[in-house]
Amino acid sequence: MRLLVTGGLGFIGSNFVRWSLAAYPTLKITNLDLRTYAGNPANLKGMKGAARHRWVKGDVADPAAVDRVMRGVDAVVHFAAESHVDRSILDASSFLKTNVTGTQVLLDAARRHGVGRFVHVSTDEVYGSVAKGESKETDPLLPNSPYAASKAASDLMVRSAYITHGLPVVTTRCSNNFGPYQFPEKALPLMITNWIEGKPFPLYGDGLNIRDWVHVSDHCRGVDMVLRKGVVGETYNIGGTASLTNRELVGMVRRIMKVPESLVVPVKDRQGHDRRYAVDCAKLRRLGFKHSTTFETALRATIDWYRENAWWWQPLKGRGDVKAYYKKQYAGRGKK
Ligand code: NAD
Ligand code: TYD
Repeated sequence: MRLLVTGGLGFIGSNFVRWSLAAYPTLKITNLDLRTYAGNPANLKGMKGAARHRWVKGDVADPAAVDRVMRGVDAVVHFAAESHVDRSILDASSFLKTNVTGTQVLLDAARRHGVGRFVHVSTDEVYGSVAKGESKETDPLLPNSPYAASKAASDLMVRSAYITHGLPVVTTRCSNNFGPYQFPEKALPLMITNWIEGKPFPLYGDGLNIRDWVHVSDHCRGVDMVLRKGVVGETYNIGGTASLTNRELVGMVRRIMKVPESLVVPVKDRQGHDRRYAVDCAKLRRLGFKHSTTFETALRATIDWYRENAWWWQPLKGRGDVKAYYKKQYAGRGKK
């Protein structure tokens, strides 16, 4: 199989490329990635089957670049996106270009080239905040952040490509991922790496927002299952094994890392901060999906990975553009 993966230099995309090449010895992957601030060739360092992988630097919103890589492709797995909620609050423009226009450009090219399957990787954040129960795939989309709104728009473009043009699409909506190679601006890698450095973790608001945590390897296995077995035109939720308030998460990581409470600093809440996400995964389980690890085991392994791989995250945190982002992010925000 010849696969086009988009965003394969990012956190989840690179884990998917690494896992897939090891799992399928004849698989060939073209990886279209613009290498934005979040894209990092080091994420693929030392992987098995590297000779069957080709990175092409290009923008998913550039029709000519997309057309070139779409030739001869059997299936597309579309990860490329602007993915950080806080950045979307500061400026949503790149979210619209990449997440919405980029998806539409890919859908059009996939149709022109007769691609056999298009897997669109989306998020549970498109359902909005759910006070009780679990979101089902048929629930209305009520996104609250500019990031979630751009992902919901892309989900609808994917749906329309199926209904109008008959493109064989499948969509996944996953909960919060964690694991190796996650850009250290997201909550868990920021917390772990700050604490390795003896710096505080900024806890937003009252810390009672609830997220459902899934190890990235299970997300990758879920996407692969949907790629191979998912029913065309359908959407599949992919959830985790631990639904926790941010305070509970902080407490668990603090205990494992033996970090004092003084390194948790409450800061002003994120604007429009969704209180809770939760997804019903019965549909994916009916395809045969099972989690491969428990939350605590995977969390300990993740903490160990960041402890052992400072070479990977330290240069990212020291980068000028990352420091400039935090300056903007905390301008006028400060402590609670
Ligand atoms: P990430 O920010 O780590 O990586 C995104 C990748 O996309 C980077 O390599 C970047 O260079 C690339 N990219 C960005 N704009 C591009 C463009 N215009 N053209 C080509 N490449 C571009 O993101 P991630 O956390 O790995 O998320 C991957 C996908 O999974 C996203 O679609 C996201 O919405 C979805 N998702 C993420 C999570 C999560 O917890 N991180 C949960 C559910 C769904
Ligand atoms: P994040 O990793 O940004 O994922 P998302 O907002 O897409 O769910 O954040 C996870 C949770 O942690 C979310 O409730 C916001 C919170 N958070 C903090 O408390 N402090 C931080 O510095 C960050 C980045 C997030």
